[in-house]
Amino acid sequence: MTVLAVAMQKGGVGKTTTTLSVGVELAQLGARVLLIDIDPQSNLTQALGHDPTAIENSVYEVLLNPTHGSGFATITTDYGVDLVPATLALAGAELTLAGRFGRELLLRTALQDARRTYDYILIDSPPSLGVFTVNALTAADSVLVPLQAHVFALKAMPQLEETIQIVRQLNPSLRIGGVAVTMVDRRTSVNAVVEDTIRRQYGDVVFKTVIPFNVKLVESPAAGQPISVYAADSSGARAYRDLAQEVAARYGK
Ligand SMILES: Nc1ncnc2c1ncn2[C@@H]1O[C@H](COP(=O)(O)OP(=O)(O)OP(=O)(O)O)[C@@H](O)[C@H]1O
Ligand SMILES: [Mg+2]
Repeated sequence: MTVLAVAMQKGGVGKTTTTLSVGVELAQLGARVLLIDIDPQSNLTQALGHDPTAIENSVYEVLLNPTHGSGFATITTDYGVDLVPATLALAGAELTLAGRFGRELLLRTALQDARRTYDYILIDSPPSLGVFTVNALTAADSVLVPLQAHVFALKAMPQLEETIQIVRQLNPSLRIGGVAVTMVDRRTSVNAVVEDTIRRQYGDVVFKTVIPFNVKLVESPAAGQPISVYAADSSGARAYRDLAQEVAARYGK
């Protein structure tokens, strides 16, 4: 089993889209998949068609009661994956947890049971480096980085690497297991140059599959459906299908 933190300390690079799309496709391949929304924005929860205001137990309650496991807050979805949802209440958890002993390891503790139940656990992290991202990184075996094919994205990588280096004191085997180049527009040469730089710098860690810029990926979260359901034949859906195959090949089942 594999726990993947989908993380990047930069907003709007495709973390949530990648967590959702890869997760649903891995389930299509027959894997038992749990998705965890640890972002107060609750984008993943909403993209799966759940209303955050109607949720009883969320990742917030899981973090407050880590020894209870994550099962009591896990809900099913229409798309073959289970979900530990987030609500806006999570925004207050940053303060609530501030003084708590072992606050960096709450999610890791809570996922001990789920590790036996699922083949993949994918954690959708927020863009900021706070208690939630650190919890995602300490709970994970490996980091999956969505890297926007944009010059500024490259500058964010050293920052993420530094964070991982620090988190290794708590989670020694943590590493960047995969980099997925996202939002690529083949019409601009800048994207190609950046992609090339990423591949030279990070080598085999970079997935062969490239996620194109595809407007269906903008529309599908508003419809509350994963891309494979919203627009199965779109370039975005096809790319995420390929990426999930690569993830499955890399991590096994
Ligand atoms: N390949 C793509 N093509 C076009 N739009 C995309 C693509 N991937 C994601 N998007 C859109 O870009 C926006 C940001 O994507 P997403 O929410 O996945 O990023 P994020 O890294 O999770 O953002 P945040 O840091 O705020 O959590 C969303 O509106 C999403 O629908
Ligand atoms: Mg997000």
